[in-house]
Amino acid sequence: MVLPVVIITILLKLCSLQMMVLSSPVCRLQGVLVQSAHHLLRDLGGPFPVHCVKYNANISFPDSVLTAVAASHAQCHQVLWVLNESLDGARQVFENHSLPEDGLEWDEVKFDNFQNLQYQLLGEWRCSSNVESSDVLSSYFKNVTAVLQQQDSAACGWMALRRDLLCVLKSALQQYHSCFTWRHARHQH
Ligand SMILES: *[C@@H]1O[C@H](CO)[C@@H](O)[C@H](O)[C@H]1NC(C)=O
Ligand SMILES: *[C@@H]1O[C@H](CO)[C@@H](O)[C@H](O)[C@H]1NC(C)=O
Ligand SMILES: *[C@@H]1O[C@H](CO)[C@@H](O)[C@H](O)[C@H]1NC(C)=O
Ligand SMILES: *[C@@H]1O[C@H](CO)[C@@H](O)[C@H](O)[C@H]1NC(C)=O
Repeated sequence: MVLPVVIITILLKLCSLQMMVLSSPVCRLQGVLVQSAHHLLRDLGGPFPVHCVKYNANISFPDSVLTAVAASHAQCHQVLWVLNESLDGARQVFENHSLPEDGLEWDEVKFDNFQNLQYQLLGEWRCSSNVESSDVLSSYFKNVTAVLQQQDSAACGWMALRRDLLCVLKSALQQYHSCFTWRHARHQH
């Protein structure tokens, strides 16, 4: 079969476009790992409790960092950056503070597995772009820390952190699905 010239040209264009995308300096992150992290975090405890709502004024994740529309190249960069900053900030909180004895009924095994994945994701990061500073999220993490350091509000602080991290993972996966690599999708659970 002889393909019309137009089709061949289109195919060539598609191929070269794909090669350009593959060789461009974006972070490549395994979608399945992010998805597993999301599911573990979602399943390790119950919904955000009503009595913690009063701390929403203290802890408000700056949603504006995630509100972009189509998944263009620059936006993928932005989304992966937000994800990295969020996971790294949460890692620091987990390292610097221990979970309260009371008030949190988190599944320890799932939380451990989540943390292992979190480290794996932070280690998997391969991108050659410049590292930007994270003023946007640093005040968020300061506020989270302030709330979880006080005995009365500690559990709420942890739950707010989990809620916001879950939201970041979920929006990244749902709205920016194509920013991740999905080569090993057959390993999905
Ligand atoms: C991820 O965030 C950490 C902490 O801000 C930073 O040190 C690291 O370079 C970031 N990685 C990328 C690929 O931006
Ligand atoms: C965690 O502790 C390190 C070392 O004390 C500090 O530099 C960092 O800002 C802390 N991060 C958070 C989020 O508490
Ligand atoms: C931090 O807390 C203050 C009040 O304590 C609040 O005005 C501010 O919006 C909070 N910022 C974030 C990012 O949570
Ligand atoms: C929440 O923010 C208010 C107003 O800034 C502050 O007075 C209060 O101490 C904060 N609560 C916690 C638990 O950090």
